[in-house]
Parts: sequence; structure tokens; C-alpha cells
Amino acid sequence: MKEFVIIADVIAKKEEGSLSSSPPDVPKLMPGGNYIRPGRDSSKRTCLLFEPPAEEVGVLARYLKIFEKFGVNLAHIESRPSARETSRYEFMVECENGGNLKDAIKEIKEVSDHFSLISRNYQDDQGNGDGVPWFPRRIRDLDRFANQILSYGAELDADHPGFTDSVYRDRRKYFADLAYNYKHGQPLPHVDYTEKEIETWGKVFRQLTELYPTHACKEHNHVFPLLMENCGYQENNIPQLEDVSNFLRDCTGFTLRPVAGLLSSRDFLAGLAFRVFHSTQYIRHPSRPYYTPEPDVCHELLGHVPLFADPSFAQFSQEIGLASLGAPDDYIEKLATCYWFTVEFGLCRENNKLKAFGAGLLSSYGELTYSIEGKAEVRPFDPQKTAIQKYPITEYQPVYFVAESFEDAKDKMIKYATTIPRPFGVRYNPYTQSIEVLDSKPQIESIVQHLNQEMQTLLNTLRKL
Ligand SMILES: [Fe+2]
Repeated sequence: MKEFVIIADVIAKKEEGSLSSSPPDVPKLMPGGNYIRPGRDSSKRTCLLFEPPAEEVGVLARYLKIFEKFGVNLAHIESRPSARETSRYEFMVECENGGNLKDAIKEIKEVSDHFSLISRNYQDDQGNGDGVPWFPRRIRDLDRFANQILSYGAELDADHPGFTDSVYRDRRKYFADLAYNYKHGQPLPHVDYTEKEIETWGKVFRQLTELYPTHACKEHNHVFPLLMENCGYQENNIPQLEDVSNFLRDCTGFTLRPVAGLLSSRDFLAGLAFRVFHSTQYIRHPSRPYYTPEPDVCHELLGHVPLFADPSFAQFSQEIGLASLGAPDDYIEKLATCYWFTVEFGLCRENNKLKAFGAGLLSSYGELTYSIEGKAEVRPFDPQKTAIQKYPITEYQPVYFVAESFEDAKDKMIKYATTIPRPFGVRYNPYTQSIEVLDSKPQIESIVQHLNQEMQTLLNTLRKL
């Protein structure tokens, strides 16, 4: 895997006057650590999508002979109705890397009406130059991310508050294993938190909830009481991800998935395209309740979750995710930067006052206060400019970006996404929980027809009201 780009979801802040560890942007083997899992072989497979010229008997057998001829082993074969033309079929084949894949691809291209190649190793995509970075098409494809984590959650840097605490390290391994073995569709793991863990949560909860009425945006304050009523958000209780995920699903269709370690920006953002948020489940070390060098359950539940219950914010987040699918590496970095300055550290204005909606702010007492006091520079959110702003991850942000509204930020993101060089459009189909890759006229025509019908229903209803 080559995409050790910047890290999307690291919260490392200078609190209590101490600097956190350096950004974990490459997998590290820690002393005595054995939890680096750089990815199974599945990550190295190349995925081919092709459409035979016309319906003919035994067409798959013909294709299989091509793979056999060039000594290419297949890991997975799938046939399905073509997304491009309703009367046709298409095949999706995952090839093990090996054999003469390059010539096999050449021959398949020659005998297919449509061909595309998706690969984790797209930079050296068999010399074809038309590879697209792999991205999940179906929601269950997110299961593969468990194999792609950059470092396992039980790994702690030497300056992590829990580094020398063997009980804490065992606990982190427990959480990492829960997430690693999680599969789409299962209930999220139920965790019996210890008294010590609940105590840590309580301290953070008490401190932050004091600030929310005056410092958090109205959307956050609107949802928070509902989370207290429905999901067990209390000082003496750490909410269960399953309850929170079900609540979010009812509000906006967002769901949570546990994550075993650090994901690449590409994978993390791809989850958002499905309205899936990868959430940690462990809690920070009890010795320093107001500091964490990485996201933990306090950051996710107090910072992120309330906003994902807001329809406009949910849509904004999904737009960043959709824009990332199949995008080149430099654009992934730009999108991750936009994510950083909005979902993590975003500010907005209400009645001429700055308020916070970024989870990094809403989960940090110190920076939440600092950010809205107006001491730091604030600039209007503009994806073109925001995307290239450098930022520190070990101290308070010197610059914050202010969104006019989530609707406005979303429109700007959609516009920005059109500048990403990609030979196709993407659309999330909530019925099939899959990504539709749009690259043919018949597809667009069928969507337009569908939208027309929806519009008719709305107009008819409007007339009745
Ligand atoms: Fe976060």
C-alpha cells in the first residue's frame, strides 16, 4: 500500500502545556509491539470491471480462458446487471497480482465494450496509465479497511500517557481487537466500561458541557439534549456506540463503525461517502483526563456525533467523502485538509458571534475557549483556499475557517469537487447502499427520469396543500 498520505483524524493538541507525539504518518513498530498489520494480500489485488460486447452464451468462459492463458489467478468473480445499460451485463474480477496481468488486461480491453481498472497500487497499474485508485463500491466493502490500517490501536508512542501502563495497554488491545473483527451488519460491540474509565469520561463530560451553551453552534446544542434522552449521554455513563449509531441512523442515515487503528485519509474519507463514520471506542488514559494525543470516545461522542445528527452537516460530510472516491493523491490531501478545517476545527457565525462546530474544538476545553475568543486568525471557508492551508496537529490552530452555514459549505464543496480530475461522476444509492459510478449517458438519463418522477410527486403534493 502506498498511500501513507496525511492523517485525517488525529487529534493531537498541546494541552496541559505538553506536546504530543509526532504525527503517526507511517506505521511504526513499537518496542515489544507486535500489532503492526500492514495489510493482507487482498490489498494488492487488482480489480477489473468490464462489459462484454453483447449478450452471448458462454462469454464468461471466454474471458476466463484469457486469464488462464496469461497465468493470472482470480480471487473473486462477480457478474451483475450493467450499471451503464440495463439490458447488458458486466463482470467484476479481482486478480491476484502475478502472471502476465498486463497482457491479460490488454486482451480483455480489446474484446470488451467497456473496461475499467481499480487498484490499491494504481500508481503502477500494469503500465496502463488508466487506473483509478481503489475505492469501496458497496457499504460492506468498508470491511476491507480493517486490513488497511496504518497502525494497530494497541500501539502507543513512547510519550503517550498510557505507554508504561500495562493494564491500559491490554485494554487498548481489547478495543483494537473488537474493531478489527467487526463486520458490516453486526451490532456494534457492547463494552462494559470500567469504573475508572467512566470516571475519566465524567470529568471530560462535566467540563465540556459547561461550555456548550455559549461556545457550541446551535445545531450541536439542539441535538445534545436528545442524546442525553435517547443514548445515555450522562456524566456517569459512557454511551454505547450501537445506541448512538441507531440514533444517528434515524436522524440522517449516518452510522458508526468501530476502527482498530489509524486509517489512511483516503479510506477514512471514503467511509463518509456512505455516511459511515469510523469511530474509536477506547478512552484516554486516566492520568490525564483533559489531554489526548489521538481521537478517543470522548472526542467522537461529544465532538462528532451531535453534528452528524444534523441533516445539512451530514450532507456536507458526505460530499467530502464522495469527492474523495477515486481522486488522485494530491486531491485526497486537499480534501483531508478541508475536512480538518471544517469537521474537526470548523467555526461558524451566529448573530455575529463565533461558535464552534468542529469536533476537535468541541472535545477540547482549552481550544474551544481559545478558538472563539477571536485571538486566532479567522478566514471565510473557501475550499480552493482552505484545501492548501498548512496546519499544525500538535498545538492550537493559528488559523480557523468560518462557514456561513452548512448549506453554504456543502454547495462550495460540491463546486470544488467538480475541479477534481476524475473521468466519472459518483452518486450514492441509499437503496442499495452502494456507489454508482456515472460514466455513461443511459445512466444519467435513467436518473433524470427518476428525479422527474420525484419532482412530479412533490408538485402534486404542493398543489394539495
Ligand atoms: Fe475527529
